[in-house]
Amino acid sequence: RPRVLSGIQPTADSFHLGNYLGALRQWVAMQETHDAFYCIVDLHAITIEHDPKALRRRTRAAAAQLLALGIDPERSILFVQSHVPEHAQLCWVLECLTGFGEAGRMTQFKDKSARQGAERVTVGLFTYPVLQAADILLYRADAVPVGEDQRQHLELTRDLAQRFNSRFGKTFVLPEAYIPKETAKVYDLQDPNAKMSKSAATPAGLVDLLDDPRVSAKKIRSAVTDTGREISYHPETKPGVSNLLVIYSALADRPVADLERDYAGKGYGDLKKDLAEVLTDFVTPLQQRVRSYLDDPAELDKVLAHGAERAREVASRTLARAYDRVGFLSPA
Ligand code: TYM
Repeated sequence: RPRVLSGIQPTADSFHLGNYLGALRQWVAMQETHDAFYCIVDLHAITIEHDPKALRRRTRAAAAQLLALGIDPERSILFVQSHVPEHAQLCWVLECLTGFGEAGRMTQFKDKSARQGAERVTVGLFTYPVLQAADILLYRADAVPVGEDQRQHLELTRDLAQRFNSRFGKTFVLPEAYIPKETAKVYDLQDPNAKMSKSAATPAGLVDLLDDPRVSAKKIRSAVTDTGREISYHPETKPGVSNLLVIYSALADRPVADLERDYAGKGYGDLKKDLAEVLTDFVTPLQQRVRSYLDDPAELDKVLAHGAERAREVASRTLARAYDRVGFLSPA
């Protein structure tokens, strides 16, 4: 079976709708067709200033949410990045193949560093995409389900794999980004031209999976819509309504065209009210499952330890091969 790897940062207490529709939904589905490796990337989470206590809590919360969403730790390998030291080890080798200018062209780095202010930008933030490449290449993944914002990091990963292979001999698999068509970029409810993100100026446009559904319903009701009255999918001219339609379509598993037909002649208020209901029906049982996983942190830690053990078997083999290829003497 082909292999899939993806990762998510434990940088918030809850994942948001963008994470779910852009990536996590595909993670769950791809368990059916792929050997899956899913990684909670805590090393990436410290590239911006963080609080150790919050990181520990969020790492467990990430695991609980992934399990609650349907990641099955028997079928898939679910693990924490820092439990597998090979990620940092391969990262070093790849850093030595990455051009300084090449890393400097990463738009996420440019955006994040502009937000941080020059004084606080770390070298870790700069090399972040190289660590991401190591995550992927260690498992020789064929496919990487992510949102649109990760496309450039996937291109870099392929470039580094190719560069390593041509310089030292075929070692890595060139991975393909697996980016969903409709939900590749979920937009902020208050600013439908910006992607939904936890770093937005206001939380009013951000729907967290673990928010009280009444709070989320209110955010949906006050979502920015567009001029005109028609409920139709036109991302260029009606970005607000189109975003709501895409979210609705994905959560209710109904094509956008069906929704357009159902809402012909109805108002934005009707659409919002129904979407709030669909969302509530999705998050209510999800939140119950998350709570029950969080009630037993020892069991969660056990699941993650088991995942790390299985991940290491694969990662250590790839790392050993890469070390050998670059000419490191193997310890006698
Ligand atoms: P992170 O933790 O920021 O986001 C996790 C996933 O959610 C997707 N996403 C979105 N998709 C659609 N619309 C949005 N508004 C939206 N916001 C976030 C992201 O594209 C991502 O797929 N660099 C990665 C983490 C990472 C990784 C990896 C991913 C580290 N190593 C290896 C894949 C493979 C990141 O920042 O994810």
